[in-house]
Amino acid sequence: MGLLSKKNTPLVGVDISSSAVKLLQLSRSGDRYRVEYYGVEPLPANAVVEKTIKEVDRVSSSIAKAVKRSGVKTRNAATAVSGSAVITKFINMPADLTEEELEHQLSMDANQYIPYPIEEVSLDFNVLGPAEQPEMVNVLLACSRSENVDVCVEALEGAGLTPRVVDVEAYAVENAYSTFLKDQLNIDNNEVVALFDIGATTTSLHALHQGRSIYTREQSFGGKQLTEEIMRRYGLSYEEAGLAKRQGGLPESYETEVLQAFNNALIQQISRSLQFFFSATDFSNVDRILLAGGSASIPGIDSLVEEQIGVPVQVVDPLANIGLASRINKDVIKADSPALLTALGLALRSFD
Ligand SMILES: Nc1ncnc2c1ncn2[C@@H]1O[C@H](COP(=O)(O)OP(=O)(O)OP(=O)(O)O)[C@@H](O)[C@H]1O
Ligand SMILES: [Mg+2]
Repeated sequence: MGLLSKKNTPLVGVDISSSAVKLLQLSRSGDRYRVEYYGVEPLPANAVVEKTIKEVDRVSSSIAKAVKRSGVKTRNAATAVSGSAVITKFINMPADLTEEELEHQLSMDANQYIPYPIEEVSLDFNVLGPAEQPEMVNVLLACSRSENVDVCVEALEGAGLTPRVVDVEAYAVENAYSTFLKDQLNIDNNEVVALFDIGATTTSLHALHQGRSIYTREQSFGGKQLTEEIMRRYGLSYEEAGLAKRQGGLPESYETEVLQAFNNALIQQISRSLQFFFSATDFSNVDRILLAGGSASIPGIDSLVEEQIGVPVQVVDPLANIGLASRINKDVIKADSPALLTALGLALRSFD
């Protein structure tokens, strides 16, 4: 199977992230979307490390639990690979090629662009728009070692699901952004948007322009560091510390010492990622910053980033204009909304 095989069948999106498996299925009528099924199942520590599945059986059993709990009927699934598992490159190709011709040409030329034998990789590409040279287009090429794709397939199959699509996480985020966030937030087509997904172990920058993902960078930084510091300082278990983060009740020193140190480190990560983006591309500023991922729910994080970086900042709520089936627990899914961009983008693959 290629990285992005397309099939017009109902699919459940399965985001296998480091803290949990997130499963979501959408239905569509006209241009209205509704969440039909939703389930999250925490993953044991180290089952997924740095976006790579390490313990496939434990991941499968968490997926199976999420499937059961959500009540989802379809067994067809879309998932994604990301991080160091994916290599992306910008290249220029002739503008007059059809999609098939482009695909053929890229797979013929791929060994120029990627450091692995072509038999060992899955390839995909995204035409970004006209290149500077006349009659050429700028293409974003993505490839992953097939072994990374295979382990995702194995995890889904182990849970009784049939993988139909293995997407690239950056494209799933792009899909959710252009389908939901762009209109919802009145983002002009020419704005350069830096979307930061602040997860448990990884903070990813997705730079977006004209509805497309133009740059991605991941850093090993996330909410788990804050959880671990809470455990250490206050002698709590991992679960207790995670709950305290959401529900409060920690001593006063938490905000002034622990949280503030984390927030400062986050600002540094954001600032660094933006510098990398500017030096790797022709862009030298962003018009706005969007915050996603579970750690975007830290109270006041938006105004802090805005103040320090000097760019307007919003925390995303991608579910704001999406309906919810009556079987969905509204309070639970609404609280998770910023952390569901990838799952939503994957669920959108049902409508390709
Ligand atoms: N209300 C909240 N306040 C603070 N932190 C929160 C809140 N809700 C969730 N988090 C934190 O967000 C993190 C989980 O976010 P998310 O679900 O986006 O991560 P993930 O996708 O599993 O991780 P990764 O993308 O790194 O693999 C956890 O560290 C969790 O403690
Ligand atoms: Mg994530």
